[in-house]
This record gives sequence, C-alpha cells and structure tokens, in this order.
Amino acid sequence: MFHIKNLNNISEKGLEMLTSEYTITKDAPADGILLRSCTMHGMALDDSVKVIARAGAGVNNIPIEEYAEQGIIVCNTPGANANAVKEMVILGLLLSSRKVVQGINWAKSIKDEEDPMKLIEKEKNRFAGLELTGKKIGVIGLGAIGVLVANTCRALRMEVYGYDPFISVNSAWGLSYKVKREQNLDRIIEECDYITLHVPLIDQTKSMITGERLMRAKKGMKLLNFSRGGLVRDEDIKSALESGNLSSYVTDFPNKALLGMDDVICIPHLGASTAESEENCAVMAVNSVREYLENGNILNSVNYPECGMGPCESRPRLSICNRNVPNMVSQITRILGESCVNIAEMKNQSKGNYAYTLIDTDGDVDEETLEKIRSLNGILKLRVIQPRPRIRC
Ligand code: MLT
Repeated sequence: MFHIKNLNNISEKGLEMLTSEYTITKDAPADGILLRSCTMHGMALDDSVKVIARAGAGVNNIPIEEYAEQGIIVCNTPGANANAVKEMVILGLLLSSRKVVQGINWAKSIKDEEDPMKLIEKEKNRFAGLELTGKKIGVIGLGAIGVLVANTCRALRMEVYGYDPFISVNSAWGLSYKVKREQNLDRIIEECDYITLHVPLIDQTKSMITGERLMRAKKGMKLLNFSRGGLVRDEDIKSALESGNLSSYVTDFPNKALLGMDDVICIPHLGASTAESEENCAVMAVNSVREYLENGNILNSVNYPECGMGPCESRPRLSICNRNVPNMVSQITRILGESCVNIAEMKNQSKGNYAYTLIDTDGDVDEETLEKIRSLNGILKLRVIQPRPRIRC
C-alpha cells in the first residue's frame, strides 16, 4: 500500500488514477506528495517520502536541491498547462492594448442614464486602444509556454523576437520559422513594444528585468509576467511606469504594492486555472508519482535525471539515488558481485550533482548486501521494488 499526501486541490481526474493500492492520507507517513502552489520551504517531511510531484510548471515553492540531497525525486508537469497560460497571455496582450475592462466598468456605471446608447457613442473615444498586428513582441524564454505564445503572436501577425540561450531541441522544432532569434536581452527590451516573460524563477533569473533595463526600454513598452513575480522588482516597475518607459505591467502575481499602482493589470494567478489544464497537470503528476513508486522510473524530474527501464514485473529492482561522482556504479556492482547477485539489466543516468541507478537482479538481494550499498559514500537513497506480475488477459 502506498500513502499519498495531497497538499492542494488536485483535479479528480488525476486522483482517480490512484488504484486500490493507494490511500490518500493526512496523518500516515507518506510515500508521495502531490501539490500545486503550497509552499514546502521549511516544511518537515516524513522519512518515508520518496517522490513529490507539482501539478504545474514552476517549482520555486519546493526546495528541490535540499530534497535531492535526501534522495527525494521532485517532478513537475512541463507543458501540461501551456495552452491555458498561452491563452491568458493573449488575453493579457489585449487587456494591455484595449481599454476593455475600463470600458465595461464605465458601461455598468451608466445603466441608469436615460439614453445610454447616446452617451456611449459620445464617450467611447476615452477607451480607444491599439492593435497587436504589426507590433514587435519579445518572448523571453522559449519553453513549452513561450513557444506557444510566440507562434500565436505570429498568427496575429505580430513581429516576434524569441530570446532563450538554453532553448531545447524540442522547443526549437516547435517554434515557427518566422520567429526571429534574438541573442541579446537588452536589445530585445530596447526594441519591442511588448515583452512577455516565460522563464522559471531561479537564482539566475531573479530580478532579471532590472530597473536599468526598464529605463532603456522602448518608450511605452508593455510588460507581461505570467511566469513568477520575482523576475522583476516592484520598485523598478513603479519607476518605469512613472517615467513612461513602461505604459502597462500585466502580472499574474499581484502583491500589496502592485495592487495599489496605476497601469498595473493584476490577475489573481489564473494563468493555469482552466478545467482542462488542471486535469492535464493532475494526470501527469499522478502518472510520475506512480511510475516512480511502482517501477522506480523517473519522469519529468527537476532534480534527478530521466531514467526508466519499463515496468518492474519479473525481477526485484534496486532504485538508487546517488551523487554524480566517479566510481559509484563500480562500487555498487562490486558489492553485488561479492554477494553472488547477478545483474540482469542496469541503467545509470546523471543530471548536475545527482545520478540515479536502476538495477534489475536475478533473485533477491539480502539485507546485509543492501546495507553495504547504503553505507557507501555518495548513496542518498536505496529502495528495493518487488516485481508486480502484470495480469494479461
Ligand atoms: C505553474 O507554475 O505552472 C502555475 O503556477 C500553476 C498553477 O497555477 O498552479
């Protein structure tokens, strides 16, 4: 039986995938944790936790390095909410360009007028806006969301510039050839009418849109932030709006300071909040948790490498989280060899400071041998997964 803690509301579609071998628990030590935006920094974890999956893309609410050190796999759901966020970005572009919200609010305020139609035709000029077609937009970050945004802006006949020094091959394949490649962040900010941010919040991206950059922005530029609030600093936004360099800041991450500022469009973190995206994220997150607990396979991890050997159905499988240092694999296999354990299949993958090793053995491995492996310098977690023969119809 596997115990799962659910720290947020995860769509039922995902929870339905937890079979009778799973229980959702509040109190029992958990094997896996599912969450959305709840912050895990400073949270005490049960020793039993092996995997954590966030139903969403950003993982800045999870101490991923600290958990990697404890041999805990952290997964996210890249791409699962990309379409929802893309649609919200397009809405953000329109909201920053057309005074629709102001117009709607004003229209409501004249409901008791004798002839509202006459007043509307007289006053509507106050709410005139700008068109997107032909304008320049810089898309910073070309992951799953950035690529969809860039392609959709092209379809709206905008002039699109893409900036991403770390673009993946997959993203590059998905990007319209009409999106122009820009390698200089300052230039893209200086030349574009709109900038939209699609990078994760990590040490390297914190406050990346500096006050200095905003001061050199094209006059009247509109900035959209559907990634994370920490990519910009509130005081820099305030100064840039006051100087007129920025004419609008659209953010999905309002705070007290931003809520009180003029020309800031505050959306209450709704980018990924659609039924479809919540289902996609939950299904992907639960699938990653199940794959890891049942088969030891790592999918969509942000702190360990992708690594899989298919279903664990005929032999015991060792799942080993270790440091990415020389000689780990040779030490593990030597100990198995000395205990006369034959290795049937093996895979080792690494990512940054961490590596993961899967070993299927011909027969059981005794506790003494497992302890010898556990005590090696660099082993962070070892678990044995017993085979679960598949029922074939
Ligand atoms: C994300 O990181 O993908 C979003 O913040 C998800 C969410 O809204 O929970």
